[in-house]
Amino acid sequence: MADFTRQGTISLSCPKLLSGFLEQEVIELGYKPLRVRPTGIDIKGSLNDCIGLNLNLRTAHRVHYLISEKPVADPNELYEWLVQIPWEEWIDPDGYFSVTSRISHPSINNTQFANLKCKDAIVDRIRKTSGRRPDTGADLNRTVVFLFWNQQSARIFMDTSGESLSRRGYRQESSMAPMQESLASALLMASGWNPGMHFVNPMCGSGTIAIEAAIMARGFEPGAVRKNYGFMHIPGYDRDLYKKVRLHNRVNRIQEPSCRIIATDNYPGAISAARKNAATAGVEELIEFSVCDFADTPVPDGDAIIMMNPPYGERMGEIQQLEQLYNRIGTFLKHSCAGKTGFVFTGNMELAKKIGLKASKRIPFYNSTIECRLLEFELFEGKKRQ
Ligand SMILES: C[S@@+](CC[C@H](N)C(=O)[O-])C[C@H]1O[C@@H](n2cnc3c(N)ncnc32)[C@H](O)[C@@H]1O
Repeated sequence: MADFTRQGTISLSCPKLLSGFLEQEVIELGYKPLRVRPTGIDIKGSLNDCIGLNLNLRTAHRVHYLISEKPVADPNELYEWLVQIPWEEWIDPDGYFSVTSRISHPSINNTQFANLKCKDAIVDRIRKTSGRRPDTGADLNRTVVFLFWNQQSARIFMDTSGESLSRRGYRQESSMAPMQESLASALLMASGWNPGMHFVNPMCGSGTIAIEAAIMARGFEPGAVRKNYGFMHIPGYDRDLYKKVRLHNRVNRIQEPSCRIIATDNYPGAISAARKNAATAGVEELIEFSVCDFADTPVPDGDAIIMMNPPYGERMGEIQQLEQLYNRIGTFLKHSCAGKTGFVFTGNMELAKKIGLKASKRIPFYNSTIECRLLEFELFEGKKRQ
């Protein structure tokens, strides 16, 4: 059985450029970041800590717990190192596991080969010590082992998340070009929005940004509806502790947040998908959905943030039509959102110029491989104040 209380290294991974937001979250949860990389953070903690991290982190994709680390020269050395590890403590001999990896090593030109070596070492070790052998395959919904290997060293981890944490479990339906839940959370963090303010999301698509805002406003943990994590498949996992973390999180729930969350799209299919996703996430009653042109979105009085993720031509839409759309976005922000702060998330800076307003911030992000910016517009009433 694995020792869930042993302090070790936990490596949190996230999409490119999100590690600053992840760092903020980790500090808020009471951990001290030891190393911050563009795609992740290392902290100290136990497997039990991994339970809370998996349930509570909004911008992380995976929580990896380090088992062993060693400089490794080639696939044979990899096997010799891994076969010594007491895998029978980490993996149920009658269970199922998969291996994933990130490898940049001159001896490897096919990561599948390294994954296979890794699987062979684990199976051989378990067969030798228990006389049984676990099944293997590509499913990430049971035990997952992660290999990181570069020229300096190889690190072998238990992936305590399994499927990416961005898969919160509420997106049953998607519309055109949906964004990852982790990115939507980071956009909200970058905007400075908090549940004391209204949130307006024209062009909401499948509703990811508005749903993440509603989840935050209700004080739900991001994994509130997800039922399966990698840590649950490691022998020694304490289900009572998991239930305790869930119960503890419930204390932060807010029955009736004071903010309004408004989400619109002109495509009825998008609103229907967004409604279903919001219902699965348990926040449908908090979001005011409607089908309309973005310019007809109601903007409430009071402190509010307007956030839009218009099409930007990489994956949908034609550039000329989009130029007009972006121009209309500028008019809407200027005339209908005065006194608020507007945000436009786009991957096309040429189109962004058509908005015709000066951005006060241009925060860089990636939407999968596309470089994007979150543009902030301070929408002063009347003339711009000094
Ligand atoms: C990039 S998608 C938004 C994706 C969304 N962030 C998500 O996670 O699903 C852009 C959305 O803008 C909507 N849209 C395009 N033109 C619009 C218009 N004139 N008025 C309202 N919505 C519009 C599209 O229907 C589409 O759902």
